[in-house]
Amino acid sequence: MTLKAVEINHLSIKFNEQLILNDINFSIEEKDFMAIIGPNGGGKTTLLKVILGLLTPDEGKVKVFGKDPKKAKDLMGYLPQRLDFDHDFPINVFETVLMGRYHGLLKKYSNQDHKAVIQALKDVEMDELKDRQISKLSGGQMQRVFIARAIVRDPKLLIMDEPMASIDPEMQHSFYELMSRLKNKMAIVLVSHDVGAVSTHVDKIACLNQKLYYHGPVEDSAEGLEEVYHCPIELISHGIPHRVLKEH
Ligand SMILES: Nc1ncnc2c1ncn2[C@@H]1O[C@H](COP(=O)(O)OP(=O)(O)OP(=O)(O)O)[C@@H](O)[C@H]1O
Ligand SMILES: [Mg+2]
Repeated sequence: MTLKAVEINHLSIKFNEQLILNDINFSIEEKDFMAIIGPNGGGKTTLLKVILGLLTPDEGKVKVFGKDPKKAKDLMGYLPQRLDFDHDFPINVFETVLMGRYHGLLKKYSNQDHKAVIQALKDVEMDELKDRQISKLSGGQMQRVFIARAIVRDPKLLIMDEPMASIDPEMQHSFYELMSRLKNKMAIVLVSHDVGAVSTHVDKIACLNQKLYYHGPVEDSAEGLEEVYHCPIELISHGIPHRVLKEH
């Protein structure tokens, strides 16, 4: 039996007594390419942080490649929704990605680290700009650099929280091209509000709004996906067909 990238059972989490995630049962297979969709405040970032071991659930079990998430940190790459990053900081592309190989204060970067940075920059087609100051990159180029930083440890699970927020349609196309190259090497999960775009590119969709409303292949839910996106409200007011929106 192959190990699942992520396995979540009966996960619940509260903030200030308010239930944010309610009895989530969810898994990611080793080579899944999955999008998580859902309205603002639906708990998408919270779910990702639980997988990353940055938040501890109140109830339920979470395993990442069979391990406690905190012990699986080296297996995951993460692109946060908002980067606390000073874009005018005087640092170049190469150095920005190298930070993703940080081993601790007293350890120097090795030759292997340098090679990994070049490989990651090649993967995102940014190797030619490796000496460019990051303050002189476009938004889409910057995004690529941060994706390179997220993959520079060669993760088995890549987690991206709204990676296309500042990407134009042309860049979006090359983003998905990049993803199709990476998806042979790792499981990928991304959060997006662009339901149309993700549904034509990813293999699986999860629809989250406190509860998990759909979790499965795109083809089953392709019809009326826009409605699926607003699932919780639509579900109550219009009654989306059971086939499309079975509560998980
Ligand atoms: N640290 C926190 N303390 C208290 N409440 C929080 C905290 N983090 C998130 N929340 C709340 O939990 C809910 C889910 O937030 P989350 O960031 O997971 O939503 P999201 O689906 O990622 O939304 P968006 O699409 O806007 O990014 C929101 O109501 C948010 O206000
Ligand atoms: Mg979020």
